[in-house]
Amino acid sequence: MLKKMALLLIAMLTAGLTIPTVISSASAGTREVLAVAHRGASGYAPENTIAAFDKAVEMKADFIELDVQLSKDGELAIIHDTTVDRTTDGTGAVKDLTFEQLRSLDAGTWFSPAYAGERIPTLGEVLDRYRGKIGILIEIKAPWLYPGIERKVADELVKRQMDVPNNGKIMIQSFDHGSVQRFHAILPDIPVGVLTYLPEQLTEAKLREYAAYADYVNPSLNLVTEQLVDQVHSLGMEIHAWTVRNAALVEPLIESGVDGIITDYPDYVPRNAKSGK
Ligand code: G3P
Ligand code: CA
Repeated sequence: MLKKMALLLIAMLTAGLTIPTVISSASAGTREVLAVAHRGASGYAPENTIAAFDKAVEMKADFIELDVQLSKDGELAIIHDTTVDRTTDGTGAVKDLTFEQLRSLDAGTWFSPAYAGERIPTLGEVLDRYRGKIGILIEIKAPWLYPGIERKVADELVKRQMDVPNNGKIMIQSFDHGSVQRFHAILPDIPVGVLTYLPEQLTEAKLREYAAYADYVNPSLNLVTEQLVDQVHSLGMEIHAWTVRNAALVEPLIESGVDGIITDYPDYVPRNAKSGK
């Protein structure tokens, strides 16, 4: 009953409706629900910058999530959009700018003058700074623009001996499931996940397809149902929902049985929260 209420609340909240009452605390499950800081703690600091990643560590998130693309000269740059226009003081496509040009941009002032001077990090820089401190969920963004990006990401991990089995601290994901499969073929010991916001990509047949190579199915939170969570689990995968920007969505998601919550506000996810299932 509580789970049904929880899922109803998710539907209401994503539709912009307000909740009539506060629901009770999550029932006790056994699995911990991971708090994944989306683009870092991007509710508090400019997304995909060291400031946002540091904030996530400070907030004791379990993972940081970040988006990786390639500069014109082949450097792995951490930025979400395929242009720099929204999150920096520059203009143009990431793929048309050298890393030196990307690095010269201010990636903080758009968020707040307090973050003036934040820079676009490289993947290597992030791996070096955060390995052993927090898990790292790497999204390969728009891989169709960057042929060979999977190999480059893998090389950065191998260089640091971060490709060992079961390290549990690195995950790869993408909306491009071909890219996920290409990465998996290169480094099969690193857990990979498929991202989706499309219901037609969550059919039983599709889930079975993913189970052949993926460890995670990570859907938009409005697609999360108890049935989906059960299906994903029964196929031996886990499920992380995104993107929580409203604290009231956390408890219903925990009740639904998800394994992780990807959020701009990692402090919204209670420490040691146990899955509702
Ligand atoms: O990790 C899930 C989320 O990052 C996917 O959407 O657009 O924020 O990269 P987006
Ligand atoms: Ca992302």
